[in-house]
This record gives sequence, C-alpha cells and structure tokens, in this order.
Amino acid sequence: MLRAPRRLPCPPRRAASTGPGPGRRLLLSTPIFYANGPPHIGHLYSALLADALHRYRGLRGAGPGRLSTGTDEHGLKIQQAAAAAGTSPPELCERVSGLFRQALTQAAVSFTDFIRTSEPRHQRAVCHFWGALRDSGALYKGCYEGWYCTPEECFLPESQLAERRDAQGRPCKVSLETGHQVHWTKEENYMFRLSAFRGPLRDWLRDNPQAIAPEPFYRRVLRWLEEEDLPDLSVSRERSRLPWGIPVPSDPTQTIYVWVDALVNYLSVVGYPEGHGQWWPAARHVVGKDILKFHAVYWPALLMAAGLAPPERILVHSHWTVRGQKMSKSLGNVVDPAASMDHYTVDGFRYFLLRQGVPERDCDYYEEKVVKLVNSELADALGGLLNRSTAPSINPSNTYPSFSEACFPKLSDHREANGPGRACAEDYELVASVASLPLQVAAYFEGFQIYKALERVALCVRQSNGFFQRHKPWKLDRTDPGEQRWLDTVLHVTLECLRVYGTLLQPVTPHAAHRLLSRLAVGPEERGLSALTFLPRYHGKPSPFEGRQLGPDTGLLFPRLEMPRRTRADTKELRSPTNGCCK
Ligand code: MSP
Repeated sequence: MLRAPRRLPCPPRRAASTGPGPGRRLLLSTPIFYANGPPHIGHLYSALLADALHRYRGLRGAGPGRLSTGTDEHGLKIQQAAAAAGTSPPELCERVSGLFRQALTQAAVSFTDFIRTSEPRHQRAVCHFWGALRDSGALYKGCYEGWYCTPEECFLPESQLAERRDAQGRPCKVSLETGHQVHWTKEENYMFRLSAFRGPLRDWLRDNPQAIAPEPFYRRVLRWLEEEDLPDLSVSRERSRLPWGIPVPSDPTQTIYVWVDALVNYLSVVGYPEGHGQWWPAARHVVGKDILKFHAVYWPALLMAAGLAPPERILVHSHWTVRGQKMSKSLGNVVDPAASMDHYTVDGFRYFLLRQGVPERDCDYYEEKVVKLVNSELADALGGLLNRSTAPSINPSNTYPSFSEACFPKLSDHREANGPGRACAEDYELVASVASLPLQVAAYFEGFQIYKALERVALCVRQSNGFFQRHKPWKLDRTDPGEQRWLDTVLHVTLECLRVYGTLLQPVTPHAAHRLLSRLAVGPEERGLSALTFLPRYHGKPSPFEGRQLGPDTGLLFPRLEMPRRTRADTKELRSPTNGCCK
C-alpha cells in the first residue's frame, strides 16, 4: 500500500526571499475566517495587523502589494453549524461571508482580494494543487484512526487530550488546548507524507531566521520539529460523512481535508496555477497562534511537496481575552466589532487594538481601557494639540507659520555662539526624537511590532505637548515683532511634529490622519514616507509648507469617548486586579 515517493522531499524552486526590497511585489494575507459565526474582535485584530502592514507598505511606495482575506467555508464545522441553524451550508456561508466582508469594510481594512473557498477559481486551484502533491508521490491511501476534534478540524494525539465528563456526566475526552470534545474516528483517507519533511522544514527555518516572527514563535516551531512526533497527515475525509467540501480529483468517495483546502487560498488569490509566479513566494501571512502549526509546518511542507517555496514570512499574534476570560458564545462575552466601531469610532477602535495588542502575549480587553487610551492619546494629546496650535486666537491668518533660525538655532551653532536663541535643551530633545521617529517606526513595522511604533508616536506627541505648554504661545505678545517671531516658530515646530504624526498614523487611524493632514494643508502627494522630512528649516533648508494657507477647520480631530452605557455600572468589577492592563 505504501508507495515509495517519486520525488520527495523536493527542494523549494526558489528560496524564500527576506527583507523588504524596493519596488518588490508582496502579498499580505489575513487568515480566511470560518463562515460558521459572525466576526469578533479576535478576527478583526488579525485583519487590522495585516491591514496596517499593507497600508504602511503603500505609504513607503514599496512596490505593488496585495492584501488578501476571505472566508473558509468547507468542512464538518460549517456543515454542523448549518444543520444547527436549520439552513444549508451554502446559505449559511453566503450570509456569514457577507458579515465578514461588511465588518472588514467598516473597519477600513483595505483588502484587494476577498476569496471564498466555495468559489470555482479556488476549487480549481485546490484540485491542481492536489494533483501536484499526488504526482510528486507525497500522497498515499491509508487507514487512519484517531481522536478528531471538529471545532479545530484536526486529529489530536493522546498527549493533547484530557479526561472530562460530558453534559450527561459520561466520561469523554477533550482537547487540552481548547476544551472541545473529541470523537474516535476511523476511516480510509489519503495521507500526506509529512514525516518526510522534518529535515527540509528545519533547513528552511535555519536558513530563514526571519521566517516566523515574533521570535518566541520561531523557536516554538523549531522545537516542534526537533522534539515532537511528525506523523503523516490525513488529508481527506470520507465523502459520505463530509459531503460539504471539494472532492478528491479522480476519487469521488473522498473529500479534501478542509485545512489543505483553506491553505491553498493564498495561492488561489494570486492566480494559481497560472499567474502565481509573479507573486509567490513573496507572501507574508498574518495568523493567530492557534493556527501556527498549520501555517508554519503543514503549509510549507505541502508547498515543498507541490514544488513551490514556502512563504516568505509568517507573522504570529496572540489572543484577546475579555475581562480575563476566553471569549466564547456560551459565556456571552464575545465582543462585536461592528458595535465597538460604532461606539468608539473606527479609528479609535483600530488604534486601541493595534496599540494595546502585543503579538507575543495574550491581551485583555475591557471597555474602560479603550475609553481611557483613546481619550488620553487621540482626543486629548493629539487632537488637543492640533486644536490649540491652530486656534484663531494665536494664528489668526490661518497659515503655516514661519520658522526663525535666530529663535531656534541649530544645536551646534547655538552651543558655539551661546547666542540669542530661545529654544531650551528639552526643545532640542523633542526635535531629535521626532527626527528619528520615522526610522524607528519603520523598524518596528518591519519587526511586526506595530504596538511599539505607536508607543513611540504617543511618546513624541506627549513631548510636543510639553513643548507647547512650556512656551505658552497664547501668552506671547503679538505686537512685539521678536515675540511674534518666537510665537510663529513655536507654532511651526508644533505643526511640523503634527505633520509627522499624521503621516505615520495613516496605516493605523486612516480617517483621523487624513483629517489632520488636510487641516495642515498637506497635499495627497506629500503624505508618503519616502519624502517625509521633519523641520527642514532647522537645517537651513526651505520648507514647502511655510506660509501656506492651512486647510479648513473641520472641528475636533477626535471627540472624547464616553463609557458605553451598559458597562458604566460595572466599573468596580473593571478595576479588579485580574483585569489589569496587559502591558
Ligand atoms: N479558518 C481558519 C484559518 C484558515 S487560514 C488558511 C481559522 N479561522 S478563524 O475564524 O477561527 O480564525 C481566524 C483568525 O482569528 C485566526 O488568526 C485566529 O487566531 C484569530 N482569532 C480567533 N480568536 C481570537 C482571539 N480571541 N484573539 C485574537 N485572535 C483570535 O482559524
């Protein structure tokens, strides 16, 4: 029965490239979401991370990019959810897929491709991929039995199971990780020779230390490959039990395993089996930690077997809990992204998730934290600064004020001359911090530490507020030409800082950043990152903004948020130590 592999394991056709590289194509992806229930904030977080990376790349002018997302519509899980809802799988998927599309659109996720695994283009790609696996000798038919976990759609070894009692008090086995019940399943399946890929997978990871980020997840995968069993993988199910899926080509008694089907979405979006060569393997997948093994072990092995290179990078994030508990329908604590965006605004909610979400560790969600963060950093610090520095009382001409080199001499001149400048040591620190901010942000985005990029921006915004407060421009005497020059310089520096923050925040808070930049009269072609120079006048260079008429005042940049009504009464509970900040 076990046929010798014809060409296994085969080396990738092209080594996965690393580093951003100018003008290069890149496919960024979110996982495709199970179409068995509505979106929640965990799903949104995966999508926002990918969206921020995609938008950031666009601002850098880094070459053609795509952001793919979609819905995972086959498998037992969907079949059972449809039966429970008294509907058919296609009807359920149509409805739920629409909900995901709607939520992602509401959240301003700038996807270029939305794929549904029930689409013919995807089914064609999966069948072709299966053919490539079969032709390489990677598949064989074998009898498989084991504990199957339907919600996770996979077989689990004994080591990942625990004994429990079911609702009727009968002993049963459950998945250690998720607590879901498993069932003994025995059937004839096609098997994938995963065990043959231990060496090639290890080599791939050792040659590409950036392939999985953050680093702890890279080490976790290496550990799996070094210390754990890597049994062959069952890659089909009996069609009589699972009709809702793609049939195995030339064997209609079997349905292709939903994870093989789902993973191939990353190829179908780029036109596999014909057009993918332009994009593959320049792909970066954003995934939650629960689906790391599928993406970092099974997917690269399947690709190698099919004669393709593994993706360039897998970017992994941890999970959101809600007030210290796992989100679940039964606990009734699932956070609805649409309602959250309605209440906290799209940008407020995006900012919160990306600023507070730390990919390396689980983060806890509760409303008070959203309100506090958004009010202090977006409404008060950023919005307040814009409001105060553009107020008609201190800038009646509504222009981008001019910078005086005499008031704010370049540091070396100032030191040498000990001259008449009015700027103090902290002001020079501010200039140095903001000047280095774009590069720091770039490094954090490249390192998948968007939260750190935002932390740095927030810190600079605080510094700018300190600068403004220190010099109290509203108290300066505008009838005195010397005072007026200093007032203009304080405003010029402040607006320059705001211009940098607005530019850098575009990937995270696109609407607020747009409003901020429009108020500062920054044109659409001036919003990219490559030409982002901060305070050129300080270096004796001309500023294209100086003297320019500011954009219209369209009101508060960011209105202060209130606590959602239903949770105001819960504030005592919110302050309990288990609900502490995740950072
Ligand atoms: N359909 C598979 C993915 C197939 S990709 C080829 C799947 N879908 S999912 O809908 O269950 O999850 C989609 C994403 O949401 C995953 O990245 C998952 O980690 C993420 N989240 C689900 N719950 C989460 C939290 N509570 N917190 C953060 N993200 C979590 O898995």
